[in-house]
Amino acid sequence: MVQSTGSSKIRTAVFISGTGSNLKSLIKFSKTSKSPISIEFIFSNNSKAKGLNYAKIYKIKKRVLNFKNKNFSENKLLSILKKKNIEIICLAGFMKILSNNFIKKFKGKILNIHPSLLPKYKGLNTYKRALNNKDQYSGCTVHFVNSKLDSGKIVLQKKVKITKNETETSLAKKILAQEHKIYPKAILKIFNL
Ligand code: GAR
Repeated sequence: MVQSTGSSKIRTAVFISGTGSNLKSLIKFSKTSKSPISIEFIFSNNSKAKGLNYAKIYKIKKRVLNFKNKNFSENKLLSILKKKNIEIICLAGFMKILSNNFIKKFKGKILNIHPSLLPKYKGLNTYKRALNNKDQYSGCTVHFVNSKLDSGKIVLQKKVKITKNETETSLAKKILAQEHKIYPKAILKIFNL
């Protein structure tokens, strides 16, 4: 479990690869008085990630490393995180798999949000798989990251109903709206707030 220390907020990094709507919701949350975290750093493996714009808008330091050489990028990233005294990492649509070495360095300090009701549909194409299986419900999950993909301890989940004419797009939209709510809630939960 992560421990909140004293009055200062927990220095947090958010990793993204794309739109960054969860990043935006986390930044907004971090600015509320009840938030235990402050977002000090945004990282992306993708220089074209739209979400990087939030770094400029909210004056948060950012960095891009392309992960073509994963070992090199992760080592560089680890040294940046150390320099910035980052205590926890929130993965928010970060589409690269972190190595065991990296995860070990932040053991129990990395959270991820995933668009399915884990343990169902680890990995990609979660909406399609839920629809193909004619599931009645799907949803999203915030979980700790461990060495197995999408398998760490679950912090919080939210179910959404799959309706009759549901498409991948409509389901993704519905789930994303819930993601924006449960990521902040999960952070409050892990700090017992
Ligand atoms: C979100 O739906 C998130 O759950 C998913 O990518 C989307 C990112 O949206 N993450 C994964 O699939 C991780 N395996 P965002 O960039 O707008 O936050």
